[in-house]
Amino acid sequence: MVEKITVVGAGNVGATTAQRLAEKELARQVVMVDVVDGVPQGKGLDQWESAPIEGFDSRVIGSNDYAASAGSDIVVVTAGIARKPGMSRDDLLNTNAGIVKQVSEQIKATSPNAIVIMVSNPLDVMAYVALKVTGFPRQRVIGMAGVLDTARYRSFLAEALDVSVRDIQAMVLGGHGDTMVPLISYTTVSGIPVTQLLDRATLDAIVDRTRTGGAEIVKYLKTGSAYYAPSAAAVQMCEAIVLDQKRVLPCAAWLDGEYGMRGLFLGVPCKLGKGGIEKILEVELTSAERDALAKSGEAVREPMKVVGL
Ligand code: APR
Repeated sequence: MVEKITVVGAGNVGATTAQRLAEKELARQVVMVDVVDGVPQGKGLDQWESAPIEGFDSRVIGSNDYAASAGSDIVVVTAGIARKPGMSRDDLLNTNAGIVKQVSEQIKATSPNAIVIMVSNPLDVMAYVALKVTGFPRQRVIGMAGVLDTARYRSFLAEALDVSVRDIQAMVLGGHGDTMVPLISYTTVSGIPVTQLLDRATLDAIVDRTRTGGAEIVKYLKTGSAYYAPSAAAVQMCEAIVLDQKRVLPCAAWLDGEYGMRGLFLGVPCKLGKGGIEKILEVELTSAERDALAKSGEAVREPMKVVGL
């Protein structure tokens, strides 16, 4: 367990993340920070009151003030707004970039040694804003997307095969959007290539469903987006860092020549431990996968220009 993990944004993703962190006792203190008066305080108190029942000793608190989060080991950023009717993608981008910029300044001032896990969307660009504003080394600014996208892919495969989710090993790389790259060539069922177990048409349909997995949930919920799987993914990354597990997980990392790209966040296989991203693994890709990853990189660069940092 570490001393303190802060979750910025006490909305659906943030509050569920805080609850999961506390229930796993990953930090002595779990702090939620939000701009809305009373919401982080109320949700924090409510979660802390569940501690005697669930049997955890992580102290959960909420605040509107970053002083409560000072000296955090990890900060998970979930602050932002959802797209509203009539709002263009660029409007959303600029609004959330403004929020993440302000949050990043506070993190830099109050938790200068923290590892930042970005969850706010558009993910790859928000991670870029945090990296630029905090000035932290790239090992300490990590985007959560690949773990979630891979979990969706694995859950669909387990369903199609009627096997345990535990036995599906897979990786989804690239940007967090329509251009993501599920790697069929590295998908196995307890080591058996998935191509031996499912026909191409079924696999292609699962890949498509994975790419639109976020939108599928939004369509059901109507007024919000996914939060159970996103919070589980962010917490798995925290766990790998807190317990120094050296897990190999797909994360959005700042590329500096890896996979032939430089100067952008993109989902790639990373080793996560107490230092954050301790290594980016460069694996062989088929030429189609390599092309798809490059295309995904181009799609991420466009909105980076809009925020103009
Ligand atoms: N500082 C702190 N919190 C903020 C700020 C800010 N400057 N601006 C907004 N918030 C808070 C809101 O008050 C709200 O409580 O961020 C929270 C967002 O919560 P929700 O609207 O419930 O959104 P949620 O579903 O949690 O998604 C948050 O994660 O997965 C991504 O796309 C999603 O970008 C979105 C983010």
